Amino acid sequence: MKNINLEIKAEEDAVPFMDLLLLADPSPAMIMDYLADGTLFSARWDGVVVGVFVLMHIDDVKWELKNIAVAPEWQKKGVGKALLQAAIEEARREGAKLLDVGTGNSSIDQLAFYQKMGFRMRRIAKNYYTLNYPEPIYENGIQCRDMVVLTLELTEGGDG
Ligand code: COA
Repeated sequence: MKNINLEIKAEEDAVPFMDLLLLADPSPAMIMDYLADGTLFSARWDGVVVGVFVLMHIDDVKWELKNIAVAPEWQKKGVGKALLQAAIEEARREGAKLLDVGTGNSSIDQLAFYQKMGFRMRRIAKNYYTLNYPEPIYENGIQCRDMVVLTLELTEGGDG
């Protein structure tokens, strides 16, 4: 679908967006934890909420995308790509030089999604999900144990 024109807005109250946030992260406790320090953005298309993302300031150069989700009925239409582009622009506007995102070893679709947008694998946080999540997570028949951290360089010509 072409011409996706998202209206991006910082939100104070996360409650109306919890269902969306839970699509990307099964742990309400982890979500509440990073919402305390991060900024939640909603994305509307023609007035309808189609997705969310959460950005967190890490240090002078780095920001982290803690959550990104598109409402199920809006997925696979290019909204995720537009949403990720909006998150990248927001991080850049804040002065970030690097944008990190972490995803599970089992999150095959998401690994494709981020790499198609230019993110490159940087490190693996072994046992991140087994240590930080109370219930085992399975996707694509694989247990989600390790976090793959991908980074996008936001400086001109940066390719890691
Ligand atoms: N397998 C391979 N590539 C995929 C894919 C899949 N299942 N889903 C999306 N992609 C690719 C698309 O092919 C597209 O690339 P293209 O432009 O080369 O065709 C690109 O990713 C963007 O697709 P888009 O339609 O914009 O994605 P989307 O609107 O479905 O959003 C997510 C992608 C991941 C944000 C969405 O599926 C989602 O909200 N999932 C649940 C929450 C989640 O997992 N969040 C990430 C947590 S790490």
